[in-house]
Parts: sequence; C-alpha cells; structure tokens
Amino acid sequence: MAVSMKRRNFVSVTDFTVEEIWNVWELAAQLKTKVKSGEPHRLLEGKQLAMIFQKPSLRTQVSFETGMTQLGGHALYLGPDHISLGKRESVPDVARVLGRMVDGVMARVFAHDDVVQLARYAGVPVINGLSDDEHPCQALTDLFTIYEKKRRIEGVNLTYIGDGNNVAASLLLAATKMGMNITIISPDGYEIKSQYVQRAKIDAAKSGARMQFSNDPYDVAGSDVIYTDTWASMGQEAEAEKRARIFKSYQVNDALLKQTDGSPLVMHCLPAHRGQE
Ligand code: NVA
Repeated sequence: MAVSMKRRNFVSVTDFTVEEIWNVWELAAQLKTKVKSGEPHRLLEGKQLAMIFQKPSLRTQVSFETGMTQLGGHALYLGPDHISLGKRESVPDVARVLGRMVDGVMARVFAHDDVVQLARYAGVPVINGLSDDEHPCQALTDLFTIYEKKRRIEGVNLTYIGDGNNVAASLLLAATKMGMNITIISPDGYEIKSQYVQRAKIDAAKSGARMQFSNDPYDVAGSDVIYTDTWASMGQEAEAEKRARIFKSYQVNDALLKQTDGSPLVMHCLPAHRGQE
C-alpha cells in the first residue's frame, strides 16, 4: 500500500479519495488477519493520540484506544469535564496546544465546525469521531463490513431508514463515492441536509451509484442491507418523546423486512433502542 506522508485529516468522508478508501480497507483487512494470528503490526510505535469527547462513547473510545495500543502507540482520553472545549479555552488554542504535544487528535463533538477548527489549527492529523452532522469513521467501517459480507460494493443496495442524521449523511457520502446504491427513507421534516444531497449527487454521477430518497417506510424492496439508527441522537434527548411518535412507522421489524423480498443484512451503528427503531 502506498502511504502518503502528507498530513491528512478525516473530518468528512469527502476528505479521502476512492483509492485512499480502498487502501484503508485493504490495510484494515491485513491488520485483522495479523491480530488473529498474533503477528506484530506496530505501525504507530511511539505515537500519541489525543481523544476529545464532548459526548459519551463506548465503541469509538474503546476501538481507538485499543487500536492505538495494538499499533504500538498510546491514546489519551480527554472527556467533557477535562478540557471543556470552546468554553474553558477556545477551539483553536486547544488545537494548537495538542498539536505540539501529540501526533494526532480524534474528536467527538456537538458542533461540526469544532472539528473543522481543530483540523485547521492542530498541525497534526485530526479525525472526526462523530459530530452533530457527520460520522465518517462509522460509514467507512460499515461499508467495509458490507464488503466483507457481500464481497462487492458496486451494485449493492443499501437502504437507510430513520432520521436523516450524522450517520445517514456519512453513509450517503460514502456509498455514492464508492459506487454503492443507496436509498434514504425518513419522515417528512427529518430528511438529510441538502448540502450532503448536493455533494452526493456529484459523487454518484462519477461512481455510477444510484441514490433515492423517500418518506415511505415500506419503500424497501430489493434492499441487500437495511440500516437504521436511533431516532433521537446524542444532544436531542429533549425531543425523544416527540420523535418516538413521528418515527413509529419507521421501525425495522418483521413486517418491514418482509417488504424487502429477500433476507437483507440488518445493520445499526449502535447504541440501539430495542422496541423503538
Ligand atoms: N446518530 C447517533 C449515532 C451514535 C453513534 C448519535 O449521534 O447519537
């Protein structure tokens, strides 16, 4: 694999080219094999990663921290009370300080612009570990999982049903870039932000991916993968009851899966709320 030595950020799926994403997947596949066989794979020997969390996390914290250790590096957890990003200190100041002490920053933030600012000022690679608008690591990993299961990306029909949120936006960007067909089904008023649809159109025209949008929860015929996410994301807790009423008919259940005319993979980024989505 050709590794570019230029400093790179991963704030959005759009930051990587199609070739770079395939390179990441190829490396991920190699590392998975090495982990299983116990072969050393210490590609980040001596490197430090600062992990900023404004929101809770299970998978992101454990996977990044474990990953850094397995690769020979070290990860530092900076929780919401540790640095109070943007309150105790401005985002550019936090970025500049961290950039002098660590080799990379991963950040889970509310405002997407905070991770954009970190990337602008840190001087070291910055990875978006979820913002209110995007969740690029999730989408890249999900498409890799689909590839592992289906052995192809092009021509796979991925259907996302639920809130047009951060996960949906990143899945749309990733699928259209990589040539996977995608349908997004959301209730009226909860669709994906138009800026992502516009960008996805450009990438779909290049890759040949088909993209469709619907408000009809039963528009799932022909889906190879059904994907859903929580109806109320982190930070939207106050809207949870209202959303539960609005999203009720968008539940992934046996009746909905029957409409797919097949046995699709069912995916969820987690945490899942059983009995709801
Ligand atoms: N949309 C969810 C994803 C959690 C991984 C949230 O932002 O809370």
